[in-house]
Amino acid sequence: MRDDISRRDFVRAGATAGLGAALVPGFGCAPAPFGQGPAPQQASPLFTAPPLERVRMGFVGIGGMGSVHLANYLQLEGVEVKAVCDVDPSHAARAKQRVVQAGRPEPAVYDRGPRDFERMCDEQELDLVLTATPWEWHVPVCLAALRTGKHAATEVPAAVTLDECWQLVEAAERYRKHCVMLENCCYDRREMLMLNLVRQGIFGELLHGECSYQHDLRDVKFSTEGEGLWRRAHAMRRNGNLYPTHGLGPIAQCFDINRGNRFDHLVSMSGPSRGLQLWQQEHLAADDPRRSERYVLGDLNLSLIQTAQGQTIYLVHNTNDPRPYSRINAIQGTRGLMQGWPDRIYVEGRSAHEDDWEPLDAWFAQSEHPLWKSERVRTASGGHGGMDFLEDWRLITCLRGGLPTDWDVYDAAAWSCISELTERSVADRSRTMDVPDFTHGAWRTRPPLGIVEG
Ligand SMILES: NC(=O)c1ccc[n+]([C@@H]2O[C@H](COP(=O)([O-])OP(=O)(O)OC[C@H]3O[C@@H](n4cnc5c(N)ncnc54)[C@H](O)[C@@H]3O)[C@@H](O)[C@H]2O)c1
Repeated sequence: MRDDISRRDFVRAGATAGLGAALVPGFGCAPAPFGQGPAPQQASPLFTAPPLERVRMGFVGIGGMGSVHLANYLQLEGVEVKAVCDVDPSHAARAKQRVVQAGRPEPAVYDRGPRDFERMCDEQELDLVLTATPWEWHVPVCLAALRTGKHAATEVPAAVTLDECWQLVEAAERYRKHCVMLENCCYDRREMLMLNLVRQGIFGELLHGECSYQHDLRDVKFSTEGEGLWRRAHAMRRNGNLYPTHGLGPIAQCFDINRGNRFDHLVSMSGPSRGLQLWQQEHLAADDPRRSERYVLGDLNLSLIQTAQGQTIYLVHNTNDPRPYSRINAIQGTRGLMQGWPDRIYVEGRSAHEDDWEPLDAWFAQSEHPLWKSERVRTASGGHGGMDFLEDWRLITCLRGGLPTDWDVYDAAAWSCISELTERSVADRSRTMDVPDFTHGAWRTRPPLGIVEG
C-alpha cells in the first residue's frame, strides 16, 4: 500500500501546481453555499456544475435500496427516469412498471448482463446515473457514467479498495462531474441536530467522536435473495471495517473532514470470527453448500482514527452477532457531549442536572435542523423514516440549482478508504495506516458544510 500511496502522491505532487487553474471554474471560488455556513476566507475549491432544469436519470441496480431511491425520485419535481438497468431482468421489469405506474414515460431497460450499464451510459442522454448495486460494482458504474459525461451517485460504501477511491477522484476531476456517495445517515434527524448544535458551538471545541455500524445482519447475509446473494462473500475474504460510512459520515461532517480538517491516520483491530459460523451450524441443513463456507471477518472490528487537528474517533463494525441496532453517534467537546442509542445530551451550565444526561426533546424544539422542519421530510415514508427522501431531495436540489453537493467525491473517497486501511492494519498487528489526502491539500481552504435552510 505504501507504494500505491506514494505513486498517487507523486502524481498529485506533479499536478498540484496547476490544480487551481485546472479546476476553475468547476472547482471555482464559490461563496459558502449552505445557508448560514461560515464564509470561506479564500478561494474554495468546491465543485459546482451548471444548473440543470431537469435531471434525466438512469438507475443501475434496483433491488432493495435501488427501489427506495426510485420511489423517492419519482416523487421529485424536475426528475425524469429515462433508463433502468439490472442484471436480474425481473428487477429491471419491476422498476419499469413502477415508473409507468407513476404516470411517467416508459424508461429504456438494460438487462443484458453485469456490464450492460456501459451500454446504457453509451446510448442514453442522461444527467445522473445512480447505482445501488453490490459494493464491487459501485466504481465500475460510476466510472462508466463519468466517462460518458454524466454525474454519478453511488450507494455506500462508494468503493471497496483504496485504489478504487483514487479512481473515483481522478475520474470526477478529469471529466468534471459530480461523483457523490449517498450517505443517508448524514440526513437523519438526530445527526442533523448534532451538526446544527456543533455549528452553534454548544459543545465548545470538539475533541472526540464515536460511531459505528452495529446491525445484526445474520439473516440478511444468509438470505437466498437480495444481499444474501453477495454480502456474505465479503466476510469470506476480508477482515476489517467493511461498512464504515453510516457511522463515520455524520461525525466527519461535524469534524469538518476535507473542509479545514482531515483524517490523518488510523489503527484497527478485529476480534474472533464467530457469529456467521454459529448461524451456519444452527440454521442450515447438513447438506446446504453454505455450510462449507469459511469466514475470516472478525465479528467486532474496532478502529481509532486521529484527525489532522488531533481529535480522536472511535469506530466500530459488527454485523454478525445478536444485538440491537446502533450507530453510537457520539460527539464530545470541551463544553459537553451528545450521543444516540439512546438519545441523550449533557451541556455544562445548560443541562438541568449537573453531570446528568437529559433527553433531546428540548434541544429538538429549539435547534431542529431547518431541513427537518419541512413537513414533506417529516411525513416522508420512502425509507428509513424520511432521511432517504431528504438525501435524494437535496441531491436534486443541488443539481438543479448548480450548487455544490453536501458531500462530494473527496468525502466519498475519504470515508470509504477506511475499509481497506482497517483491513491492512488488522492484517499487520494494528499497524498505523496513513489516510491519503484525496483533496491534494485543498482541505485546508475548503469551507465547512454549513446549515442548509429548507
Ligand atoms: N443507505 C442505506 O441505508 C442502505 C441500505 C441497504 C443497502 N444499501 C446499499 O445499497 C447497495 C445495494 O444494496 P441492496 O440491499 O439494495 O442489495 P440488493 O441485492 O437488494 O440489490 C442489488 C441489486 O443490484 C443488482 N445488480 C447486481 N449486479 C449488478 C450489475 N452488475 N449491474 C446491474 N445490476 C446489478 C441486483 O440484481 C439487485 O437488483 C449496497 O451498496 C448496500 O450497501 C444502503
